Amino acid sequence: MSTVESQDYVRIFDTTLRDGEQSPGASMTSEEKLEIARALSRLGVDVIEAGFPASSPDDFAAVRAIAERIGRDPVPGRPQAEPPIVCGLARATKNDIERAYEAVKVAMRPRIHTFLSTSPIHREHKLRMTKEQVIERVREMVARARELCEDVEFSAEDAGRTEPEYLWEVASVAIAAGATTINLPDTVGYLTPFELHAMIAGVKKNAVGVDRVILSVHCHDDLGLGVANTLAGLEAGARQAELTINGIGERAGNAALEEVVMALAVRRDRMNLRTGIDPTQITRTSRLVSAHTGMLVPPNKAIVGANAFAHESGIHQDGLLKHEKTYEILKAEDVGASGTRLVLGKHSGRHALEKRLAELGVTMDQPALDQAFSAMKALADRKKHVTDADLLALVSSERREE
Ligand code: KIV
Ligand code: ZN
Repeated sequence: MSTVESQDYVRIFDTTLRDGEQSPGASMTSEEKLEIARALSRLGVDVIEAGFPASSPDDFAAVRAIAERIGRDPVPGRPQAEPPIVCGLARATKNDIERAYEAVKVAMRPRIHTFLSTSPIHREHKLRMTKEQVIERVREMVARARELCEDVEFSAEDAGRTEPEYLWEVASVAIAAGATTINLPDTVGYLTPFELHAMIAGVKKNAVGVDRVILSVHCHDDLGLGVANTLAGLEAGARQAELTINGIGERAGNAALEEVVMALAVRRDRMNLRTGIDPTQITRTSRLVSAHTGMLVPPNKAIVGANAFAHESGIHQDGLLKHEKTYEILKAEDVGASGTRLVLGKHSGRHALEKRLAELGVTMDQPALDQAFSAMKALADRKKHVTDADLLALVSSERREE
């Protein structure tokens, strides 16, 4: 059994270039997409959803270029690894499916990803189709995709709000027609983790032929539950997670790749699941995506925010200086960031000041340190952060006054 087939392996399907690009204002040029796709390959993702080829000639060209280059080139930094699967999105129509295949077919491992809504609200108001018509369309379009390509993913859009028995039937039909991955998106970010778990467990138990396919989770963040829901889906048996770098995507975004991957790594003791991601590439990839989409990463964002490894309070700083695990469950270096920062501010303590001064080459006796500490606190009341330049100025003025 290869690593990818083993039961504890979670495939990471990155949709930064497709669902992520659907963030308002985040559109990218083909060159930028190619650069991100190369970074994703280096990061170790299993699948790159490169775009939606039927949506525009530009999207078609970008997907084609990624299939040609990233889908065939050796993985940067890992010459033994196979290039990632390159996937193109298609509505459940012949034209979309054929365009998607045209764009991805040059990749070593192409995938067609076709989708159709299954929830009552989408069937009645968006598609204006009956349950039976939806089933028939799924059967025909998955079969058409499978005539073209061995690797076919089917997504039941708005699965989260679909009647469970009907969802099992749709999944069974898609599997019988040749789908190799069944994705169950919480398209509008509506479910709670227990409900998401139940949805995946229900399909796993009741869909006919489910043992032949990979189940996949795709969670949106409208209620801030995208990552929690993804983890719940994996605990229920899904073995593919659809994610974006920095959690960008439609509306409030998608579940963030870096958060899911690091949750699996840090809490392997609980979940016992693995990915093929090289975490040391996370920070670099996050910065690249932020630069090319113009979407800034909030400072308090988990894993990749500027403050993710910064500590200001004296109690925390003191604890960390005694043992790093007191207040850190992972290290900045684990994700390729430049290290824990002890930020000097009004909550900081004497130990952190002494350590920073020593790093700047300044050693002081106790009375001088006490004076510098009072001066630093007074400054921190007026200013949010005390910088190294502030510290050096403060210490030299203290010394002048002596
Ligand atoms: O959120 C969603 O349902 C999607 C599908 C197209 C997979 O992005
Ligand atoms: Zn989505």
